[in-house]
Amino acid sequence: MPAEREIRFSLPSSIPSQEIHIRIGSELLAALQKDLEIARYSRIGVIVDDALAHLLEECAWAHELPILTLESGEKLKSLAQLEQCWLWLHECGFDRESLVICLGGGSILDLAALACSTFKRGIYYALMPSTLLAQVDGCLGGKGAINYFGVKNLIGTFSFPSAILVDTALLRSLGAEVLSDGLAEVIKHALIADAGLFEFIEKLNAPPISDPDLNHIIERSLQVKSSIVAGDYFEAGPRKILNFGHTIAHALEASAPRHDITISHGQAVSLGMIAEAHLSHLYRGLDSKTLKRLESVLLKFNLPIRLKAQAPLNELEELIRADKKNSGGSLHFTLLCELGKAEHNCVLSIEQVRAAWDYLAGQVSV
Ligand SMILES: NC(=O)c1ccc[n+]([C@@H]2O[C@H](COP(=O)([O-])OP(=O)(O)OC[C@H]3O[C@@H](n4cnc5c(N)ncnc54)[C@H](O)[C@@H]3O)[C@@H](O)[C@H]2O)c1
Repeated sequence: MPAEREIRFSLPSSIPSQEIHIRIGSELLAALQKDLEIARYSRIGVIVDDALAHLLEECAWAHELPILTLESGEKLKSLAQLEQCWLWLHECGFDRESLVICLGGGSILDLAALACSTFKRGIYYALMPSTLLAQVDGCLGGKGAINYFGVKNLIGTFSFPSAILVDTALLRSLGAEVLSDGLAEVIKHALIADAGLFEFIEKLNAPPISDPDLNHIIERSLQVKSSIVAGDYFEAGPRKILNFGHTIAHALEASAPRHDITISHGQAVSLGMIAEAHLSHLYRGLDSKTLKRLESVLLKFNLPIRLKAQAPLNELEELIRADKKNSGGSLHFTLLCELGKAEHNCVLSIEQVRAAWDYLAGQVSV
């Protein structure tokens, strides 16, 4: 494992804490006390994924702290669970000089960030992402959210953690499927902004991925995302390219539980990227070779490229219409012009979007 690295980036001047540090390394959890200057906070607590709670037993710094252990997953991102976090923060006596360390996958981080950013109008929190998806993406959004009215991430805030600690050693216990979910977001970063990263991923052998290769793609992915977020924190424009694949992914994710279909975020993103790459081919001239290369890469990492079970189309279309990125009644997509280059705010009609369903179902090819 190489020595610890750090990525720093600045946010626009309207954000009070302007410089964000992302520390990347191995075995950061045990040394957290040093990294977080724990003594400067009035109170400290931990919100942890139940899959990782046992790790805290080995951390001397955590022994006396209040700990809220939660069962992760998409169901966690609910109003009821948000209330549970608020109640815990209240009962533990947290104030605006307190710090909450959030340790877990993307679902825990989204919920905990929303709870911390709204409790007493915002208390300090640090993120320790424990899945690949959360390490390359979820920890760096500055976004906390829950799902509501059946719509993904409908209620949320923009806020930024006091620290982001990416401990790659945490990934050792991850199952292959959860790792593949994270690779979907890495591939998205490569598609929208780093053609060289895409070529690197293309050359990798099928999983398992070696530690040095994994560290390389984590760091490169964080560089892509941090430079995009730094340029447009509130998602007024260019940051929207990060949504590539996600308009359709979020519709698939929101409809799945209504039809007893199980789909992870990474699987939905994989299908969403195929659908939106096909739309890019049709309406932005993305060459069909790139679409085929994308399909091969996703298949190599056991990510789906065709829909097997599907919710009714009218339901998916309703969910796409409800997407936060739309405005003025038109549907807004991020599409690819070429490998490594994306364009946001591409307006499509629902009729144009329908071409994606046929492609996903395998009824048309390019
Ligand atoms: N805020 C953002 O910018 C942003 C960006 C991308 C994704 N997300 C959100 O992230 C969520 C998905 O996150 P996820 O894919 O991390 O899933 P997840 O949080 O549901 O975790 C997946 C599974 O992995 C387990 N797990 C976590 N860390 C582990 C470890 N180190 N070892 C073994 N098991 C471990 C969890 O217990 C869970 O069973 C979605 O809700 C998505 O919307 C948010």
